This record gives sequence, C-alpha cells and structure tokens, in this order.
Amino acid sequence: MKVLVTGGAGYIGSHTSLVLLNKGYEVICVDNFSNSKMESVLRVEKLTGKKIKFYEADVCDKEAMDKIFSENEIDAVIHFAGLKAVGESVSIPLRYYENNLVSTFALMEAMEKHGCNNIIFSSSATVYGNPASVPITEDFPNSTTNPYGTTKLFIERILTDYAYANKNFNPVILRYFNPVGAHESGMIGEDHKDIPNNLVPYITQTAVGKREKVNIFGDDYPTPDGTGVRDYIHVMDLAEGHAAALKLFEKGNCGLKIYNLGTGRGYSVLEMVKAFSKAFGKEIPYAIAPRRPGDIPECYADPKKAYEELGWKAVKTLDDMCQDSLRWQTMNPNGYDD
Ligand code: NAD
Ligand code: UFG
Repeated sequence: MKVLVTGGAGYIGSHTSLVLLNKGYEVICVDNFSNSKMESVLRVEKLTGKKIKFYEADVCDKEAMDKIFSENEIDAVIHFAGLKAVGESVSIPLRYYENNLVSTFALMEAMEKHGCNNIIFSSSATVYGNPASVPITEDFPNSTTNPYGTTKLFIERILTDYAYANKNFNPVILRYFNPVGAHESGMIGEDHKDIPNNLVPYITQTAVGKREKVNIFGDDYPTPDGTGVRDYIHVMDLAEGHAAALKLFEKGNCGLKIYNLGTGRGYSVLEMVKAFSKAFGKEIPYAIAPRRPGDIPECYADPKKAYEELGWKAVKTLDDMCQDSLRWQTMNPNGYDD
C-alpha cells in the first residue's frame, strides 16, 4: 500500500512514517519545512534502512499536489501538514485559516481527480472545547476557543460534508490528546524553533539546564492537586494508531469514522514534573505561576471506541514518555541542528 504523508518531516509525521516503513508500507512524504527539517526524514531512513520518496512542496500548491498524485499511485493519505501553535493562531489567524484550509482543499481536489478516497486527518482534542465532564467520548459536543482549533473543526466538517456527498470517500478523523515522547533511539523527536509553549518540552529543557524552572500555570483548578490535568500519549503509540486506522481502508469502504487517540488516564502538571524528576534522577525546579488564559482544568479521553473498532490502545507508560523525551533532549540539545 502506498501512503502519502503530508507534513511527514514534522514531529508526529516522522514517527508515523517510521512505523509505516517498518510495517512494509511504501511512504511518500510532502513537506514545505515551515516547521521542520530534512534531517528528520534522513534519520527515519537511517533507522528503518528504507527509502522515503520525498517532495519539498507546499500542500496548498494545487499543481504540486497534482504532480505527486500523477507520479505515484497513492492508496491513502495521512494529512498531518498544518500550523499548530495555539497562541500564534490567535495573533495571526488568517495565516492559520489559509494554510490549514487551503492545503486541505488542494489535497482533496488532487485526491478526487486521481480517484484516491482514503484519508486520515490529524484532528485534536481541542475540538471538545471545555468539556462538561471527563472522560471525553467522540460524541461530546464540539466548540473551539482559538483559530487553530477552529481550523480543525472546519476541516472535520468539510470532510464530513464531502463524505455525505461521495459515498466512496473514507475520511478517518483522529483526535489526538497530548502527544509527547520520542522514538526510543533518541534519534527523532519534537524539534522546537523557539521557547516551547507545551509542558513536556519545557520540562525537558529545564531538566538539562536550558530553562531556569518550569512555571506551573495555576494551582487552583478543581482537580485533585489544583494543577491542570491532561491525557499525555506517547508519540509512538500515536503512530501505531495511524497504522491501525490504515487497516480500515484495506477492508473496503469505511465511510466517515472519528476516534479519540488518548490513553484514558489524566496526569496533573505537578505529577508530570515529579515523574520527570524521578526519571531524570534529579529534582526539576518549578514555581507556581498564574493560570494561562484559555486553559481548561481537565481533559482526558475515553479511548474505548478506537480499541473496539481498530484494535488499538496506548501501551507505553508515563515512565516511557519521560525516559524517551529526556533521551531525545539530551542527545539533541539543539534539535536537528546537532
Ligand atoms: P509539526 O509542526 O511538527 O508537523 C507539521 C508539518 O507540516 C511540519 O513539518 C510543517 O513543516 C508541515 N507543513 C505545515 N504546513 C504545510 C504546508 N502548507 N505544506 C507542506 N507542509 C506543511 O506538528 P506535529 O506536532 O507533528 O502535528 C502534526 C499534525 O497533528 C498537525 O496537523 C497538528 O495540528 C496535529 N496535532 C498536533 C498535536 C500536538 O500537540 N503535537 C495535537 C493535536 C493535533
Ligand atoms: N503548562 C504549564 N506550564 C507550561 C506549559 C503548560 O503549567 O510551561 C500546563 C498547562 O496549563 C496545561 C498542561 O500543562 O494544564 C498542558 O499544556 P500544553 O501546552 O502542553 O498542552 P495543552 O493541553 O494546552 O494543548 C495541547 C496542544 C494543542 C492541542 C491540545 C489538545 O498544544 O494543540 O493539547 O490536543 F489542541
């Protein structure tokens, strides 16, 4: 099976490409390197001993997408390409709407022209807004609190409408909870251009002395220890989730499907800092800071549907997440520039 991975040089795309190559899939990647480097692709090739057919192009570029589909008989697409920084999306919303929506249109147009009906789309738990309760099931109401989240919700709706109009179209929407960790080799991981906004890279950078301390955003939430609770999922488990979703296409027409990819277990910010300190063998300094605007108290998945229908569940432990994140950070203090 030939799989086109858009955004294949990025964090989740590189780990998923590695898993697919190891399972015998042919992988074709397209990326414009707006948030990544070719080095990740080269390292995936090194780790697997297999080649990726790579196109440096913008997914918004209709001609480029037509060329990729003309040159390859693509059976399925995994659409990771997109801008993903929540805070940045509030400052430059038009750029987010343009990049994330236009790329999806160009991709879908090429798929339609070349008769490819199978797509896995990277959505996010952000489409649940501030959920009324936890754990969250796929039928919870949707809402968003920032332009990034709204692009995800719009794309979900576009895929849904198109699936209604074209009964052969099979969009599989995967809503990721909080991806963390890295491949166990320490060779690939999440590369940060700037100061990270997300908790785990901030913790690992503090562990190795690049940051002074972790600021815990709020300790007065209605959670067991007052700090925010999230469902952290190892990126290798997430990658396996995509491989499990691809199996749906091998069975025939599946139509629209939506799955949560999470562990079903929430950890608080304080629990995360303590788990990383234990894995690192040294206290990681932290301080309580004010709440971050827009944050919700608690968010974790009910991942039962993915288990029942895809046979997938997360198997990595919190300790695996800590060890693998720290190994990537230690081996690559400057990301792929090293
Ligand atoms: P990432 O930034 O590491 O990877 C995205 C890749 O897409 C990058 O390599 C970037 O260069 C590329 N890209 C962006 N726009 C492009 C375009 N127009 N044409 C070609 N390439 C383009 O991000 P990631 O963490 O790997 O996330 C992958 C997907 O998963 C994104 O759609 C993201 O919104 C979604 N997601 C991520 C998280 C998370 O916390 N990491 C959570 C939920 C959903
Ligand atoms: N946090 C801190 N200090 C930090 C960073 C984060 O205390 O320096 C806290 C946050 O307040 C929150 C938790 O750690 O309680 C997790 O925050 P992240 O920024 O790591 O992740 P979010 O849950 O805010 O958002 C992430 C992605 C979004 C995605 C969402 C759901 O960044 O893109 O998960 O999938 F939409």
